[in-house]
Formats: sequence, C-alpha cells, structure tokens
Amino acid sequence: MTNYPATGAQAPAAAGTIVLHNVRPYGEGEDTSVTITDGVITHIGPVPEDVDPTATVIEGHSRVLLPGLVDMHVHLREPGREDTETIETGSQAAAKGGFTAVFTMANTAPVLDQPIIAESVWAKGQKVGLCDVHPVGSITKGLEGKTLTEFGMLRNSDAKVRMFSDDGKCVTDPQLMRRALEYAKGLDVLLAQHAEDHRMTEGASAHEGQTAARLGLRGWPRVAEESIVARDALLARDYGNRVHICHASTTGTVELLKWAKTQGIPLTAEVTPHHLLLTDSKLETYDGLYRVNPPLRESHDVAALREALLDGTIDCVATDHAPHGSEDKCVEFEHAKPGMLGLESSLAIVARIFVESGLADWRFVARVMSEKPAEITRLPDHGRPIAVGEPANLTIVDPQSSWTSDNAQLASKSENNPYAGEEFHTQVALTVLRGHVTYDRDAAGGRVPAAAAH
Ligand code: NCD
Ligand code: ZN
Repeated sequence: MTNYPATGAQAPAAAGTIVLHNVRPYGEGEDTSVTITDGVITHIGPVPEDVDPTATVIEGHSRVLLPGLVDMHVHLREPGREDTETIETGSQAAAKGGFTAVFTMANTAPVLDQPIIAESVWAKGQKVGLCDVHPVGSITKGLEGKTLTEFGMLRNSDAKVRMFSDDGKCVTDPQLMRRALEYAKGLDVLLAQHAEDHRMTEGASAHEGQTAARLGLRGWPRVAEESIVARDALLARDYGNRVHICHASTTGTVELLKWAKTQGIPLTAEVTPHHLLLTDSKLETYDGLYRVNPPLRESHDVAALREALLDGTIDCVATDHAPHGSEDKCVEFEHAKPGMLGLESSLAIVARIFVESGLADWRFVARVMSEKPAEITRLPDHGRPIAVGEPANLTIVDPQSSWTSDNAQLASKSENNPYAGEEFHTQVALTVLRGHVTYDRDAAGGRVPAAAAH
C-alpha cells in the first residue's frame, strides 16, 4: 500500500483510479480502503495487488466515509440574482458542505416554469461539474398560483425535472393543489409544498409569540403552516399522490405528520438545520440575519423537530440555503428578506445536535442527509450504499476538527450566514462526485476547483 503515492494534500480532480485509504464507512468498524475506478466503487478492503500503479491515494486518517449528501431544497439564484449566488458558487458551497446533488428551487427570475430554463440550469450544473444541480419546476406558472405549469414538458426535458414546488409561496388554492396532485400522479413527480396560509401571515416577519410581541413585530402563527399541512395530507390521501412538506417548523406539524404516516398517507417532510438549532430568542438583536420563512420558533418546537427527525416522522434534513445580499439583509428587521445560508454548515450542525451529543450515529446522518432525500426525489445514483458496484458519490467527514465559521472563507457569494464566529467540531474533509474530487479541505487553501476538469 505504501507503494502508491499518498498525495493527501494535492488530490487532483481527475478520475481514473482513486483509493480512499484508511476510512471508516458510516464511522463503523476498523479502517478500510475504498478503491474507485472510473467513477464506480470497485473494491472495499485492503488495496488489491493489481491496483493501477498510477492510482491516486488519498489518506483518510480513520475519518468517517458517508454517501455524498443530497439537499432537496436550495436556492442558487440563477437565473436572475447572480449577484447573490450562481450555479457555480452554489455548487462550490455544496461540494464544500459534502453534497453531491442539490435541488434548486423555482423562484428564480424568470421563474423555472419552462423546459429551456430547466435545461439551462441542469447543463450549467453539469458544466461546473462539482455537484448535480437538479432544477425544481414551479407548480404554477410564474409562481402566480393561478395556472398549472406543464409538468410533462419539464419532466420530459433534458433536465428530467422530478420535483415541482412554488417554494417561497404556498399553493393556497385547494382546488388548484388538487389538480396539481392529479396531474403529478400521472407523471409520478413529487410536489413540495411551502406550507403557509398567506392570509394569516400578511406583514408577518417573526414567529407569533412572546418575543415578537415584546419586539413589536407582526407574528406568523403556527396554524398558518399547520392548516396547510393538514389540508395537503387529506389531499394526498384522497388524490393519491406524494406530497412533501418543505421546512417543517412547528410541534403541530410534527403531530400532523405522525398522524398522516399512521394512516399510510404518502406525506414526507424535511427540516432545516436552523429550525433544529435556533429559536426566536435570536431576534432580540433585531438582526435581519435571523429573518427566515418559516420563522424561527420556540424551544418546544425545536425539541419536537429533533425528536421527529430521530424517530422518522420527519424524513430528512434540507438546508433551504437562501442567499441574499447585504442590501436585503442589513436593513430593519421587517424589511429584511427572509432566508439564511445553509450548505456549508449543515453537516456540522446535524453532527453537533445528533452525533456529538450521543443521540444518534453516522448511519442516521447518512439516512437523513443522503439516503432519504435521494429516495424521496427518486434520484437513482445518489444516497446509495457504500458498496462495490455503486457510483462513487462520497464524502469524508472529519469528526474531530474544531473550526470557526468565517464569512471570509465562504464559497457562497452571499454572507447571510447566521453562524459566523461560531465554533463547530465536525467538518467535511473531502467530497467525491462520480470518482472526481470536488472538494478537498486539505489541498492548498482548502479550495474547491473552479470547475472540475471533466
Ligand atoms: C426562501 C428564499 O429566499 O427564496 N426564503 C426563506 O426564507 N426560506 C424562500 C423559501 O424557502 O420560502
Ligand atoms: Zn419555503
């Protein structure tokens, strides 16, 4: 094994044969080596005698090997707001966060409701080559909540759109949502709902509770989310297609999801790292950084969301990575645009809450951050077992690394990072997409390649 050059610090982006030496799949058992040839895992165990002598050997230092993470909810802002994020910078942030596939939402300008836009987003992502960027189509044309988008055309385009959402806005009209479900069923595509009854949240910028009352901010009550979750559960029951609830944020939503699952209703849900970690007490500073939709809630909501992720009531974690420029964030709280960055910090947050605390293991992280989102979105090549014959979409996690979140180090183009200055103890060390290294923390400067060489 020592025959092969341990490049460590300079792992190239090239494919060919790569050996991930001394890694622990799912953080379990003894160190092993994973050999990858032409993008596929070809061997697990001691490096085979006949391995390509020009193979690149990457020293894993007994770190944790996970399937590449999958994020089913990000906003990469292209087309339209390339000043805040692009497919390239978003892909860099994703690779740095351990992700090999992301789904970018339809609330772009123009809205992602035409095959040509979906195809251009998908093609740009492939050209950048750091992460598979799957475009999400809007449910309604122009996100206007009036006419359905032509799901079939987007599904059959080169982008193969498999998920539709008006995220940022709720499909409030129940009859339209019913028709969307019937249409989606025939095509077997997923509908993802931003659950917010807008009639109850007009002018709201914070969770409706004591903090908002004290600060004089208009509140968004839990029921504005829960009433839509309940309605969509019943629609999914009666019209028989899958509905996915974006960014679940309340104790009541957890109760409704639990009920729906006991009824066998095909309802799935995600939770964001920020709703698992932060409460509305953060608003005391009036810092627009903490404005987000749905709003940060109270500690019992956080506890219920954590419990629900642990017991499977909530299926997965999604970051809702929502970049905004300082002109939209460094303003009065009510005028700040809602949204926070998430791609570069999510693994560290999930590890802190669940693994470092002893509540769960790395198998759990693999499930909620890779396997489940890939299953819900029906992605064939991600979230797969770490096994021979599987695509080499992988991430190496360093569970013993103290690092401080620093805006100057972000790959993202925006700086609305609510964790700046905060210390974490788990960090992504390496990300591999189909056998290509897309991020190597230990390479010079810890940089992501500008665009992968393939
Ligand atoms: C998102 C955005 O900025 O596009 N904002 C947010 O607060 N989450 C939209 C959304 O996910 O609702
Ligand atoms: Zn949303």
